[in-house]
Amino acid sequence: MKATTKPTALVTGGSRGIGAATSRVLAARGFHVAVNYVSNREAADQVVKLIETDGGEAFAVRADVHDPGQSAELLKRSATDGRLDVLVCNAGARFTPTPVRTLAWDDFRTKVADELASVYTLTQHALALMGARGRGRIVYVSSAAADGPPAPGMAAHGTAKAALNTFARFVAHEAGPLGININVVAPGYVRTESSAHMPREFQRRLMANTPLGRVAEPEDVARAIAMLVGEEARFVTGEVLTVDGGYGLARR
Ligand SMILES: NC(=O)c1ccc[n+]([C@@H]2O[C@H](COP(=O)([O-])OP(=O)(O)OC[C@H]3O[C@@H](n4cnc5c(N)ncnc54)[C@H](OP(=O)(O)O)[C@@H]3O)[C@@H](O)[C@H]2O)c1
Repeated sequence: MKATTKPTALVTGGSRGIGAATSRVLAARGFHVAVNYVSNREAADQVVKLIETDGGEAFAVRADVHDPGQSAELLKRSATDGRLDVLVCNAGARFTPTPVRTLAWDDFRTKVADELASVYTLTQHALALMGARGRGRIVYVSSAAADGPPAPGMAAHGTAKAALNTFARFVAHEAGPLGININVVAPGYVRTESSAHMPREFQRRLMANTPLGRVAEPEDVARAIAMLVGEEARFVTGEVLTVDGGYGLARR
């Protein structure tokens, strides 16, 4: 990691999909970005290269965010001179949508535990670092599936994300007095590698039922995250911002 005078941001799972777009948008807005990945070094290096080509600063950091020891080390390596301005907890493992009646308890439990493990240690360490400076922003990437059906086979994922939303509200309550804002973005379907397997018919129906008339691209979510870590959102905390082009309006 090179020395920098820029504010620093860590994006977990910053190497692909929503995380890659977020890394690029934050770098374009003047952040020195730690691009976290777990298995695909090439993808992380590619994101760093694109950022540098655009005149920004970034570096790749490998860590499995499900592991508390690796998460603690990740945060230490990402904070330049002990300074971390922004943490975006975005990393998410792929999963196969499965109905409850055929989903093993161990798989359900693992999904919920992994989701919370991927934010817990990072949050604790970020609160300590940011709290010492009296400022900071954390954004968790949740999902519109936290609101429940109709998405079929999403019980484990939706329950995990609902737990994340609730965790975020508790953290926001604790972190406010430390000068730290905590918010959540909850995307609907976003076109990424992990979601590409969804049938064309699903995507066609989604588009037809989305008031803004298209499927989300990773940059749509990245821009919402950038807004939440920017001055525009300085008095916003504990909120869940849905990013779905209005798809969920009918059931709100
Ligand atoms: N796509 C959607 O439709 C959608 C909708 C709502 C919410 N979301 C949420 O948005 C987030 C990102 O989703 P995505 O679709 O952009 O995913 P993606 O394209 O599959 O990218 C996942 C990223 O997370 C990293 N990652 C996975 N497991 C990790 C771990 N244990 N430790 C560190 N990094 C890890 C991957 O790194 P490697 O490449 O090294 O494995 C990759 O950079 C997730 O939290 C997901 O639940 C997605």
